[in-house]
Amino acid sequence: MGRTQDATEITGMGRDALLHPFTDFKRYKETGGRTYVGGEHIYIADSAGNRILDGMSGLWCTNLGYSQDSIKTAVADQLERLPFYNSFFNCTTDATIRLCQQLSQIFPEDFNHFFLTNSGSEANDTNIRLVHRYFDLIDKPDKKLIISRKNAYHGSTIAAASLGGMKGMHDQFTRLHYVHHIEQPYSFELADNQTPDEFGKQYANKLADKIDELGADNVAAFIAEPVQGAGGVIIPPASYWPEIDLICKQRGILLISDEVICGFGRTGQWFGCQTFGYKPDLISFAKAVTNGYQPLGGVAVSDTIADVITSQGGEFAHGFTYSGHPAACAAGEATLKIYQQPGMLEKLQSDTMVYWQEQWATLAEHPIVGEARSQGLLGALELVRDKNSPTRLAPDGEAAVYCRNQAIENNLMIRQVGDSVISAPPLIINREEIDLLINRLRDALDMTARQFGINQT
Ligand SMILES: Cc1ncc(COP(=O)(O)O)c(C=O)c1O
Repeated sequence: MGRTQDATEITGMGRDALLHPFTDFKRYKETGGRTYVGGEHIYIADSAGNRILDGMSGLWCTNLGYSQDSIKTAVADQLERLPFYNSFFNCTTDATIRLCQQLSQIFPEDFNHFFLTNSGSEANDTNIRLVHRYFDLIDKPDKKLIISRKNAYHGSTIAAASLGGMKGMHDQFTRLHYVHHIEQPYSFELADNQTPDEFGKQYANKLADKIDELGADNVAAFIAEPVQGAGGVIIPPASYWPEIDLICKQRGILLISDEVICGFGRTGQWFGCQTFGYKPDLISFAKAVTNGYQPLGGVAVSDTIADVITSQGGEFAHGFTYSGHPAACAAGEATLKIYQQPGMLEKLQSDTMVYWQEQWATLAEHPIVGEARSQGLLGALELVRDKNSPTRLAPDGEAAVYCRNQAIENNLMIRQVGDSVISAPPLIINREEIDLLINRLRDALDMTARQFGINQT
């Protein structure tokens, strides 16, 4: 799988030239990092010759793994036929149109219009532009405020990072003034003695309170991920989303579902809004739409919004050179064909996800695991010192960092968020591979327990 190249040469190149995203540049200079040179099925190969089970699907995007020849061929064929043309000024390519037709087959039925971007961040910037334009067109120009949640991740452009609720990001730039944040439904840290149902409703009602505080006439939209991914796989109780839906509809606030991670099967239905039972007005997507093989994102626009923005006239002054890039759209079309193969979603729901959740739950027995939660093919473990209290093993997420590093050493890619470790493996993972993932993770937990002085009887 992939050529093993000269490790020092590759690492040297990266060290000299690349400023890595979300990386401490100074520390990286001292410690270096890993370079990946190959991928096959659900494994990635690094330049040192390790074969690592990819428990994060790349960056939540290679849902179908690394060996999908039909996607690779579709991109190559498209590059041969028409490597580029743009979609500005009434133009586009046949590949772009075909993708949009296919997207309307897989999205919920009242989503038949798509604005294409290169990334999830650009999709969320586009959401703001669409929402503001919509309210201007229906003569409600005061509705400009957007409500989001603390610890949300919506991307890294100025607008997307303002929508996000990551303190570490906000500390490094000046945010858009019209974005407001409410508390997230993170029951492990925030619940008192409520039932999950009560907790869900209570935290949904923080949206109602915020809208009432700002004035519904000023608020345009609420944006949220069905399950907060980068924030630590925060899974809301079943009562949360229906209540949010109701609050938005009662107060005339548009609901934006950011499905950049949750879209395309991750939570058990094609889209997280279907899993959690709510009806958004706009849906952001990216990542798994091309199985990560090409950069592509976009916003799916519901018929109600589309009717307004397509019937009133006047140019929508927004777009990117590569909006609807034909090679990316060819990748998207080939990817969707695989998702749409008969039985794909059914197998996920009746077998892979059931087995994943059963096996993930067994990790709750480990002495340093305070909670093992899962949804679809997502999982998070909260690491604690004492199972009966939320006291953490070490400050600053140090234990989770250690656990993540041990897992990678043990050829399992997972991610650390605060005091938790998380996983989102490719949807094509089989039962034996789930066993392997869980065993490697359990070993990493054992080593973490030993490192932080926890007795394992
Ligand atoms: C929910 C969500 N929205 C938006 C984004 C941003 O996507 P991108 O990195 O493609 O800009 C991400 C990225 O992880 C995400 O998880």
